Amino acid sequence: MFPSHRPRRLRGTAALRRLVAETTVRPNQLVLPMFVREGATEPQPIATMPGVVQHTRDSLRKAAVEAVAAGVGGLMLFGVPQRRDATGSGGLDPDGVLNVALRDLRAELGDDTVLMSDLCLDEFTDHGHCGVLDADGNVDNDATLRIYGDMALAQAEAGAHLLGPSGMMDGQVGAIREALDRAGRGDVGVLAYSAKYNSAFYGPFRDAVESQLVGDRKTYQQDPGNVREALREVRLDLDEGADLVMVKPGMLYLDVLRAVSEISDVPVAAYQISGEYGMVEAAVAAGWLDRRAAVLETLTAFRRAGADVVLTYWAVEAAGWLR
Ligand code: PBG
Repeated sequence: MFPSHRPRRLRGTAALRRLVAETTVRPNQLVLPMFVREGATEPQPIATMPGVVQHTRDSLRKAAVEAVAAGVGGLMLFGVPQRRDATGSGGLDPDGVLNVALRDLRAELGDDTVLMSDLCLDEFTDHGHCGVLDADGNVDNDATLRIYGDMALAQAEAGAHLLGPSGMMDGQVGAIREALDRAGRGDVGVLAYSAKYNSAFYGPFRDAVESQLVGDRKTYQQDPGNVREALREVRLDLDEGADLVMVKPGMLYLDVLRAVSEISDVPVAAYQISGEYGMVEAAVAAGWLDRRAAVLETLTAFRRAGADVVLTYWAVEAAGWLR
């Protein structure tokens, strides 16, 4: 009798499919990135990210409470300051927008969620680079590390559980770990953006934070074609004490995610970035894709490729579908 092997047998009913499902997505594996704008009195829509807003202090607090109630596993905060300068001093200021927001959310939510903060200078510098510049206008790696160390202490003090260095400076995880440990903050962890690529798909995010960047980030973010380099970055970050490692962007780099998950002995995160969100949203708006099915499929793909944690602008909506 032919065919003697019938894989379709296990697909015959929903119950059979549920029983043999290899990959699951749970709300607590999802992290919601959020933006807070200094001095804002109303939440501001972001033109290139439909459904995402720059929050006021107040609307941030409410949205964070709602996200946690929906079952989302963590929040990643980004600040949009009113004033920027050459050294990004607003990021170190305890009264700077990001630190104030962290303090608000920690007071509101305590340890009910995992509070994460972007640890990078690009939102705070007037030139938009992730580090400070030397006399020739190049990003000065080691001078930036000293600032990251101070920024780490400010964010720890403000209440972050995990710090997310996203600037791709060499030694950033070690510098932050050392600053924290020296200050007696061994309790605060580092979610390392280990393999962060120089992507065209960050475009909408740069609108969201009103980026001042002129030029590009090619001297610090990775070439999209390199995977061996990503593994080296991950090994270095593990060596420097990363508590989680991350691949970013996510959807376009599932092969990198798979490779990283095979060598990492700490949890692996993936960031579904603004342009990846935008591609799906645009297709949904055009009537070309079913939103719920498309979004859930992308999240399943991250998990299948090896992500333990997924940062996604759909975290709250997805958590609702997955409950
Ligand atoms: C840098 C940072 C960026 C993103 C997160 N952190 C932008 C960049 O590197 O230019 C992008 C996230 C997204 O596109 O959703 N602080």
